[in-house]
Amino acid sequence: MRCVATTAFGLEAVLKRELTGYGFSITDSAHGRIYFEANVRGMVRANLRLRTAERVYVVLGAKRVETFDELFDWIESLPLGKYLHEQGQYIVNAKSHKSTLFSVRDIQSIGKKALIRSLQKSYGTEIFPETKEKYALLINIQKDNAELWLDTSGIALHKRGYRKQTGKAPLKETLAAALVLLSHYHETRTLYDPFCGSGTIPIEAAMVAKNIAPGLHRRFAFQRFFWVSKEAYTIERREALKAIKHEPIKPIVASDSDPGAIASAKENAEKAGVDEEIHFEIADFSHQIFSEPAPVFITNPPYGERMGKEEVSALYKSVGEILKKKPEASFYILTPVSGVEQLLGKKADRTRVLFNGPIKTRLYQYIGPPPKINEKSRT
Ligand SMILES: C[S@@+](CC[C@H](N)C(=O)[O-])C[C@H]1O[C@@H](n2cnc3c(N)ncnc32)[C@H](O)[C@@H]1O
Repeated sequence: MRCVATTAFGLEAVLKRELTGYGFSITDSAHGRIYFEANVRGMVRANLRLRTAERVYVVLGAKRVETFDELFDWIESLPLGKYLHEQGQYIVNAKSHKSTLFSVRDIQSIGKKALIRSLQKSYGTEIFPETKEKYALLINIQKDNAELWLDTSGIALHKRGYRKQTGKAPLKETLAAALVLLSHYHETRTLYDPFCGSGTIPIEAAMVAKNIAPGLHRRFAFQRFFWVSKEAYTIERREALKAIKHEPIKPIVASDSDPGAIASAKENAEKAGVDEEIHFEIADFSHQIFSEPAPVFITNPPYGERMGKEEVSALYKSVGEILKKKPEASFYILTPVSGVEQLLGKKADRTRVLFNGPIKTRLYQYIGPPPKINEKSRT
C-alpha cells in the first residue's frame, strides 16, 4: 500500500529517519508529509511506533484534476469497496492549495457523491445507511494534483493517551519527541529540563531511551477497519512491547518552579509508565545546581506572556550563565522569544524553525563537544 505520514513543518527529516529506521522504503516527500510503502502490518507499526508523525494515511488514489467532472469520474473509478465497509460512515474532508478547484465545500460534496457511486458498484446496492464505523477521508489537492487519503490513525498521533493534565503552554508530544531525536541525548547522559511544565520533554525522552512505542496506550481508527485483522495489531503490539529496553538509564531531571506543574508532570509520567526514570523537583531555575557531568539540556523556557520583558530577559540571561559554566554540556532551547542568542550571550551552533501547533518557535542548538560515550548520532 502507498501510505503517507504527516508531520509539522520542519520535522520532515526526523520523520524520514524514523521511517527508514523501521525498515520502510520512502517513495516521496513534500512539506509536512513523507510517502512510504507498507503492508497492513507496516501501517499498524507506523501508527504504533512513529514519534513525530501526526497521522498515517493510506493513499487510495492520485490523479491530476482541473474540473469537478474529472474529480467525480476519478473517485468513482477507484475500487473503494476494498477499504470502506458497506455500512461504514464516510466523512469526506478536503484541502486545496494553488489549484483550479478551490471550493473546499464543493470538493467535499462532489467527492462524497462520487465515493458513494464507487461503493454502489462495489457492493451492488443503492442504499448506504452509514451506521457503523467511521472512515475519515481527505481529498488533498495541491497544484491540481489530487490524492484521496484514508486516515488510519483516528485521534491525532501526538495524543499518546498519557497527558490528561495540560500545564501552561504544553508542547505537542510529537514536537517534544522530535527535540529529543534531534539532540545528542542518549540514555548514558543525564537530561535536564529545568522548565518542564507538564513534563512532555522528559516523558518523551524516557520513552525514547527505553524504546517505548508512543502508541501503546491508545486506540487507532484502523482497529475498526474490516481489512485490518486483530492479529496484525496483536503481533505488532507484542513486538513493540518486546522491543522495550529494561536496562537502567541515567536520570532524567524534570524541574519547574510551579508545584502544580510538577504534580501534573508526575501524573503524566506515571500514565506513560516512565515515572521511575524521571526525577521530579520543584525548583526555581536561578537556585538550581546542575552537578551531573556532560549533561544534555532540552528545554522550553517561558515565552513571557505572564512575565514582564525585563523578567524574561533576566531569565534567559541566567540560562546563558549556565551555558557558560558548563562547556561540556549540550543545550537545546526551544522558544519563540526573539533576540535569545544575545540574551544567552552565545551564538547557537545551529537554529531550526519549528512549529508548536500554530506558534512559530526556534530551536537553538548548542551541541557541545562530541560525547565520549559510544553514541548513535541522531542529528
Ligand atoms: C513554556 S512552559 C514549559 C511547557 C512544557 N515544555 C510542557 O510541555 O508542558 C514554561 C515553564 O517554565 C516554568 N517557569 C517559569 N519561570 C521559572 C523559573 N524561574 N524556574 C523554573 N521554572 C519556571 C513555568 O511554570 C512553566 O511551566
